[in-house]
Amino acid sequence: MNETNTTASCKSVLAYADEHADASLARLIDILKIPSISTDSAHDEDVIRGAQWFADELAAIGFEAEVVKTTGHPVVFAEVAAPEGAPTVLYYGHYDVQPADPLELWDSPPFDPQVVDDENGGRVVARGAVDDKGQVMTIVEALRAWHAVAGGPPVGVKIMLEGEEESGSASLDGFLTAYRERLASDVCVVSDTGMWNAETPAITTMLRGMVYQEFTITGPSMDLHSGMYGGAVQNPVNVLCSIVAEMHDSEGRITIPNFYDGVEEPSSAVLSDWESLNFDEEGFLASAGLTNGDGGEHGRSMLERTWSRPTLDANGMCGGYVGEGAKTIIPSSAMVKISCRLVPGQDPEAIEHALVAFVRDRLPEGWSLDIDSHGSNPAVEVRNDSPWLNAAREGLTCAYSNPAIVVGCGGSIPAVGSIQAELGIDALLVGFGLDDDRVHSPNEKFDLRCFNGGIRSQIGMLAAFAAHSS
Ligand code: BES
Ligand code: ZN
Repeated sequence: MNETNTTASCKSVLAYADEHADASLARLIDILKIPSISTDSAHDEDVIRGAQWFADELAAIGFEAEVVKTTGHPVVFAEVAAPEGAPTVLYYGHYDVQPADPLELWDSPPFDPQVVDDENGGRVVARGAVDDKGQVMTIVEALRAWHAVAGGPPVGVKIMLEGEEESGSASLDGFLTAYRERLASDVCVVSDTGMWNAETPAITTMLRGMVYQEFTITGPSMDLHSGMYGGAVQNPVNVLCSIVAEMHDSEGRITIPNFYDGVEEPSSAVLSDWESLNFDEEGFLASAGLTNGDGGEHGRSMLERTWSRPTLDANGMCGGYVGEGAKTIIPSSAMVKISCRLVPGQDPEAIEHALVAFVRDRLPEGWSLDIDSHGSNPAVEVRNDSPWLNAAREGLTCAYSNPAIVVGCGGSIPAVGSIQAELGIDALLVGFGLDDDRVHSPNEKFDLRCFNGGIRSQIGMLAAFAAHSS
């Protein structure tokens, strides 16, 4: 297809997508009903059903699609050949979701998607609505519209949908190695991040990495009567609380030795770009029901603290008696799950060792420590001078009158670093989430304006990639 044809088709493709928006939403609702929770083995069959659902949808719109077994959950791989002379775009997304609990805080069951009317044109509420099924569906629906109107996309398309992103992407590297040649493409597009605001699209060029570990400390060989033993022995819950408390100093800095080794500071140009974004800190805090944002290191802006500084958080902690009423014991053990967000320059393995040593060094004599590692991955930086980035910007104008801005992101997508390293291509992170989407929380939602704007953007980006063939 030449450039003029592509532009003309793009208009009809956009019109098709707009006319069929209800059907797109119906399909999104359908996939949101599958509880593909990757971290919970009770849902292993649901994860496979989720993969098959996407493979079937892609096969229905002209793709050769397969569900590929891995050492963990399957990967959906699908492709459609490039028209002559056109580039090939690889899309990455994930069809697995986070656990839905605490279930009692949902207004409707997490896997019974609801379309709720609101002043923003409505939203769909369900686990995975924005992270990441809704965003993957912007790609699928854009491809469907190209298929219906023009017989297929104006570029070659490969699609890789992962079923383990939310649990650390443990099997992805093996898949990338095995499918390296079949994955060969000119650029990769990932829609699993957010917009700047509902009117302003964003292209993300930094993702933080992660180290995730679970520590269980055991002292007494059984729960003890706290009247008999209290004062004589140490309490594992108390000990673990003080170890966790010691991990930060009063300035909000992490006290693990060597934790900040190698941390790279953004250039002053980048910092002043961030300053000029005039980030709405109050609005951001309000989306979390808060008025105070004193997390992290003192003396740094909130964007810096979330985009370019490393952090350490306890994600869950338990021990002792948590049932109804009172039970007077000194518990035998206590557990904490800790994750660190990493930034460029930090070595995940070194951080893992330093964290373990920190806990071990504080363990009372004769106690035991069990460690369960939930994976690690380094921070990722994406070139911001890629020619593909300009094509993405251009494509986004099909949906948004505000130009796209370049942002960082505090979250992690382990696959992005692996794709860059293994396939040697640029990754464009173009997402359609909003800060108030309640990602990983009860009542996760995706605004319909973002879903429809996302579909239009993907349609436009496909046309723009075809026009910018290098
Ligand atoms: N979509 C998120 C990444 C994200 C989070 C983007 C927040 C924008 C804002 C992704 O699905 C995710 O949650 N990743 C995990 C990865 C982890 C399990 C290794 C994360 O960041 O916690
Ligand atoms: Zn997520």
